[in-house]
Amino acid sequence: MKVPFIELCREWDFFEEEFIKAFKLFGQNAVYALGSDVENFEANFAKYCGYRYSVGVSTGLAALEVILRAYDVKSGDEVITVGNSAVATSLAISSVGAKPVFCDVNENFLIDVEQIESLITSKTKAILPVHLFGGVCDMRPINELAKKYKIFVIEDACQAHGCKFINESAVNSKAFSFYPTKNLGAFGEGGIIVTNEEVVRDFSLKYRNYGQNGRYNHEIKGTNYRIDPLQCALLNVKLDSLNKAVERRKEIAKKYIESLGHLEQIKINNYNSSSSFHLFVIRVLNGERDNLRDHLKKNEVDSLVHYPVTIYKQPCYKDEYDNVVLVNTDKFQEEILSLPCYPFLKEDEQDFVIKQVKGFFSL
Ligand SMILES: Cc1ncc(COP(=O)(O)O)c(C=O)c1O
Repeated sequence: MKVPFIELCREWDFFEEEFIKAFKLFGQNAVYALGSDVENFEANFAKYCGYRYSVGVSTGLAALEVILRAYDVKSGDEVITVGNSAVATSLAISSVGAKPVFCDVNENFLIDVEQIESLITSKTKAILPVHLFGGVCDMRPINELAKKYKIFVIEDACQAHGCKFINESAVNSKAFSFYPTKNLGAFGEGGIIVTNEEVVRDFSLKYRNYGQNGRYNHEIKGTNYRIDPLQCALLNVKLDSLNKAVERRKEIAKKYIESLGHLEQIKINNYNSSSSFHLFVIRVLNGERDNLRDHLKKNEVDSLVHYPVTIYKQPCYKDEYDNVVLVNTDKFQEEILSLPCYPFLKEDEQDFVIKQVKGFFSL
């Protein structure tokens, strides 16, 4: 049996009728830049997240960058974040001229709050935690530090649609990505900022649209980060069933935990009910990760590594971060393996994945 890591066309087949209806309305409405499809989706997504405002942009990276700019994070500033995320997290910080400062992660792959304070300097302007793999950071200690040092918190929620966030602060803004494989994925690119802060909303609305405040009145030197309204029309269809899709992810994760959790050769996190299981990531101990991966591949089971190289060891960063040693981040990068986990994974496919993982360890 062939088990793909993710097969997006299954989602198309499931929603086809509704997508075609939405596409037809979009064509008839004929507003192809910003407009009512964008506004409807922004209102729905803000409501879904329990926030007052949301502003759609072109990508998740753009969403992070625009929030940083809204807080005037710039050259000379430092932003504390993690090194095990998608590189886009750090690229957003670099794109405004600031310096990412990497903090180690805890056993759940999330920023280790115990270590943040020692990294705060007079240059620190913000903390940028990542709700990685759909796991959720407890925001209370992070928010307390931010308050103590009068710095901002920007949450990278690009992998966290449908999570139950813990101890949210009304003043933090979040960035989401609609990259096609995300829990809420577009048929192309997209991203969104959710915020309760009027300054963030007003800046984002302007910045994404050439810095305009009113037609042809360019108050700031913005750019074109407008979200595609066709994506919004289609995302509106999917948003209605996001909770159901996350429930299915949780079922899949539960089965993996029940079936594989007892194996001594792997480690599975203490995932809690807040997680949306954007990815199901195990740690393979004793240097066996790549051998397990090869075994799965030989048996036509796709797996991936998120991510194979930590951000500070990437060619574009490594010269600046030569001395960085982060014990958990470095260790986990050698051990992590993502198993197929998405709402349209079939039961017999998951059974086959489990059989192959168990089979490898009983060889
Ligand atoms: C944690 C994280 N941050 C940021 C991004 C950037 O999102 P996008 O690819 O939409 O720019 C991604 C997406 O890959 C991500 O997974």
